[in-house]
Order: sequence, then structure tokens, then C-alpha cells
Amino acid sequence: MDRVRTGIGGFDGLVEGGFPAGSNILLTGLPGTGKTIFALQYLYNGAMNGENGIYVTLDESFEMIKEQAKQFGWDFDKLEAEGKVAFISVRLGRTKLDIFDQIREARDKVNAKRLVFDNLATYAVNLDLFTIPVGYAGSIASTVEMTARGIESGGNLLAEKGDKIYYTGNMEKRLIYLIVEHLSRLGTTNLVLTYGNPDLNQLTIDGVSEFACDGIVEMFNQLVGAKHVRTITVMKMRNTKQSPYINDLEITGQGLVVKPVEKVYG
Ligand SMILES: Nc1ncnc2c1ncn2[C@@H]1O[C@H](COP(=O)(O)OP(=O)(O)O)[C@@H](O)[C@H]1O
Ligand SMILES: [Mg+2]
Repeated sequence: MDRVRTGIGGFDGLVEGGFPAGSNILLTGLPGTGKTIFALQYLYNGAMNGENGIYVTLDESFEMIKEQAKQFGWDFDKLEAEGKVAFISVRLGRTKLDIFDQIREARDKVNAKRLVFDNLATYAVNLDLFTIPVGYAGSIASTVEMTARGIESGGNLLAEKGDKIYYTGNMEKRLIYLIVEHLSRLGTTNLVLTYGNPDLNQLTIDGVSEFACDGIVEMFNQLVGAKHVRTITVMKMRNTKQSPYINDLEITGQGLVVKPVEKVYG
């Protein structure tokens, strides 16, 4: 199996050398746990090694994200000018956005092999702003076409021109499956950022993307005594023998470094 190396120090060894090519990897953790830094490092290392990428942001402007990257010496302006990365900043507040049109255009423009989606929880919270294309082959498309037909009478979803639906009611979980399916159809290896409620033992607020994705990485920033300690763990990785450990994580001047655990595979 082809592996997509993140190039993040100490991480790839936890997952047999990298993410399975073409997979959707969910990266979950509370605000400030380092998800955006992880994602930037993944794209930067890819672009520097011939694997171009796209950063889709719903949370912050791409200017802020590029500024963050500069702290670690990652010059995304240069990579963008060289056609190696593309940023898509989704402006919430407009309705009926079909972000997949923009994503496919950017993918073709830079010949992207990697994609970051930052973040799915924001998408889930704002579902009613988006349209979701259903014009793909396969079971999901027929499910949704059927759903859209059922819904015309049921009143939860509205079909547009027969090929698009948008959310108006309580179809949230099904639509999150659909968005993950659309991401996997792009042909890129995707890092999908999100968060859950740890008090409720939730990995995600939507409650389904952890099942729909091929892998789950969780990041923590927990108070231990008088100090916040950063850790990272691999919860799930299809077709991979994964490290069972919770690993210490440091944010250094060069980005994230996962501290080696004495014995990686128990
Ligand atoms: N240059 C840096 N050196 C050390 N820590 C940093 C640096 N830049 C940001 N951080 C830490 O990283 C955190 C933000 O990481 P970020 O990836 O944006 O989190 P998330 O996307 O999970 O919300 C900040 O709270 C800060 O503690
Ligand atoms: Mg972030």
C-alpha cells in the first residue's frame, strides 16, 4: 500500500510510515491542541516533496493561517506562487455554497495530492448554508436521489434542478456521511479537522464522521499538575498496524515533534 508521509517528526512511525494513500483521516482535538499546525506541516512537507496540496479553511482567514505557518519557517506565499498549494477560504454568511466546485477547481489547478479541511465541525454547525452536490455515481448518489425524492414529500430537504440538495432540517448525520464521501472522491489524501465534546466522550460533534473516515488521530492539551501537557494518539487507521500509545507532543520552532515512545508496538 502507498503511504503518504506527513514528515512530522516521530509521527509516521506510529502508522507504518504514513497515512494510507487516498484515505480520509480525521484529526480531532479541542481548540489550541495543534490541529492547524499539524495540517500546515502535512501540506508543507508534501509540497516540498512533489505532492501538492489544498487548504480549505472555514474557521480562520488564509492570511492568518499563512502567518501562523511563518512562525515555523514555512513560506506558503512562495509555494502558492509556485503553484504547489492553493488556499480556499470559505466565507460563512452566504447561503447555498457548493464548496466542492471550488475544491475540484483548486485540485486540478495545482494537481493536488493532499487536502486539508479545517474544519468539519464548523461545516456541521453551519450545514444549512451549504448545498451538497449529489451528481456522483455510486450508492451514495442513489441514496441521496432517493432521499431527495422522499424528502420532496417529507419536507426535510429540497432538491434543486434535480442534482443538488440543501439542508433545511434534521438530515445532519446523513449529510455528514455525504460530505466525507465527496471528500474521498477527490482522489487526494485528506486530513479532516474537527472537534468533539470530551466530557460527553465524543470524538466529533456530528457523531458520525469518526465512523465514515478511514483513520482518526486525536490531539490533547491537558492539565497535569500545574502544567499543560500536549499529547497525540492514533485511534483508528484502516489497513495499518497502529501504535497503541498516547505520545508526548512538542511544538518547536520547526513545528510539531512527536516524542518517541520506548517501544512503539506493544
Ligand atoms: N511558535 C509556536 N511555538 C510554540 N507553540 C505555539 C507556537 N505557535 C502556536 N503555538 C501553540 O499552538 C496553539 C495553536 O495551535 P493550532 O494548531 O492553531 O490549534 P488548533 O488548530 O487545534 O486550534 C496555540 O494555542 C499555542 O499554544
Ligand atoms: Mg485550528
